[in-house]
Amino acid sequence: MPDTQKIGIDAVAVHVPKYFIDLKTLAFANQVDPDKYTIGLGCRRMAVAAPDEDPVTMAVRAATTLLKNYSINPRDIGMLIVGSESGVDGAKPIASYVHGMLGLPSCCRSFDTKHACYSATAGLRMASDWCAVRSASTGKKALVIATDVARYSVGSAGEPTQGAGAVALLIGPDARVLEFDLYPEAVHTEEVMDFWRPSYRSTALVDGDASINSYLDSLVHTYSLYQKASDLDINRYDHLLFHVPFPKMAYKAFSRLYELEVSQRRNGVAPLKQEYAARTEPSLWANRELGNIYSGSLYLSLAGLIERSTDPISGKRAGLFSYGSGSCGEYFSGRLGTDPQAWKGRTGIEEGMKRRVELDYRKYLEFRWAGERLAYEGSYFEELIDPAVRSDGIAFLGIRDHQRIYATYNVSRDRDSEPAKPAQREVPVFNSL
Ligand code: HMG
Repeated sequence: MPDTQKIGIDAVAVHVPKYFIDLKTLAFANQVDPDKYTIGLGCRRMAVAAPDEDPVTMAVRAATTLLKNYSINPRDIGMLIVGSESGVDGAKPIASYVHGMLGLPSCCRSFDTKHACYSATAGLRMASDWCAVRSASTGKKALVIATDVARYSVGSAGEPTQGAGAVALLIGPDARVLEFDLYPEAVHTEEVMDFWRPSYRSTALVDGDASINSYLDSLVHTYSLYQKASDLDINRYDHLLFHVPFPKMAYKAFSRLYELEVSQRRNGVAPLKQEYAARTEPSLWANRELGNIYSGSLYLSLAGLIERSTDPISGKRAGLFSYGSGSCGEYFSGRLGTDPQAWKGRTGIEEGMKRRVELDYRKYLEFRWAGERLAYEGSYFEELIDPAVRSDGIAFLGIRDHQRIYATYNVSRDRDSEPAKPAQREVPVFNSL
C-alpha cells in the first residue's frame, strides 16, 4: 500500500522574519574582513528575530501560510510534530501552543522532537510512516514544523552563522511537492560533543572543526548506506540538498560526495564546480538570506529551489541530507512533483523577502537583548515592545505568572506599501487565535 499512496511532502511554506542584518555590517562591527563571511562562509544576510518573535510565533506564521496558500482544512490534520532546538519550556511542547493557535482538531497527536538540526527530519520520517499506515483509512495528513532562533555569543566565530525562521511541511499521500523514494533507511547516530546548548544558556556552544568533521562523517556514512541500498549514484540525482549551517558547508558536503564518486571511478562525472553549480547551488539562495535556521535549514533549501528554479524541475530526483549535531544524520531522496502550479507562489518566501527591513548593528544587538529579556518571569508588560517593530498577526509579549503571553494583532492588508498597523486592541490570549 505505501508505494501506491506516494507519501511525501505535499506542501511547504516558510516564515521569513521581517528583520535582517547584512553580513558586511556584522564583519565591520567585529573587525573581520567581510570576505571571510561572504566568501569564506558563503553568507550574505541573516534573519534576526524581532523582539516579539519566538519559536512559537514563527511556527504559527509558517503553518498559517501553508494552510492558507494550499487551501488545507485544519480538520484534516491528524498529527502535529514540531522539530526545534529552541524549546521554550522544559515540559510543554511548542506543538501544544501551535495546536491551539491554529485551531487544529482535538483528535490530533501533537509533540515536539529534539535532536539539534535533525529534529524536524526525525518528525518528517515518523510522519511519513504514520501516513503510510493511517492516511488511506482516515484521509488525515501530518503537519511537521521546523522552527528555530540560532544564537551564538556576540563576537564569537559562530555569530555570522546565526539565523531565524520556520518551515511548515504537510506530509501525506499523493504528495505534490516531493514524493519519497522507498529505499531502506540510511541513518547514522554517533555521540559527539560538537555543538550543544546547556539549558541555562540562550546561546549555543560549538567546537567548529569537530562539528564540520562530524557533519561530513555522517554524510559519508549515510550516503554510502543509501547508495548500497538503492544503487543510485551521483548522476541519478538532479538536485542534492544539504543541511546548510552556512552555504560553504553545502559546497564542502557536495565536494565530499564528489570525491567519493570519483574514488569509486563512476563514469560520466563532470568537473566538480560544474556538477555543484547544476545540482546544489540553485537551492542555496534562501539560506544565504536567512542564515542557519537550524531544524528548517534543509527544507528552506527545498522551498528556495522549487520557488525560484529557472530550469524545469518537475519529476526530477532530489537527494537530501539532514544533520543534527550530537549527532544524527539521515540521507533520503524523492521525486519533485510534476505540476509546479501546486507550489509556485505558495511557499510564502517571496512575500517574506519583499517585506524585509535591514537592521544596523546597534538595532541588531537591541533586538537580541530584548528577545532574551522576554524569556524571564515578569518580563511581560504592555509597553516593553516598541509598537513600530511589532510583528504582524501574532506576537510573544513576555512571561507573567510563569506563563507565556501571546497576542493577536491587526494585520495590514497592503504589507508592501504600508507599515503594519498598530493593534487597535491587544488581547493576551492563551492558545487561541
Ligand atoms: P572560523 O574558525 O572563524 O573560520 O569559524 P575559519 O578560520 O575556519 O574560516 C572559515 C572559512 O573562511 C575558511 O574557508 C577560510 O579559509 C575562509 P575553508 O577553508 O573552510 O574553505 N576565510 C576567508 N575567505 C576569504 N577571505 C578571507 C578569509 N578569511 C578566512 N579574508 C566556523 C568557522 C564554521 C567553524 C564557525 O563559524 C562556527 O563555529 N560556526 C558554527 C558551527 C557550524 O556551523 N558547524 C557546521 C557543521 S555542524 C552543523 O551543521 C550543525 C549545526 O547546524 C547545529 C545543529 O545541528 O543544531 C551547527
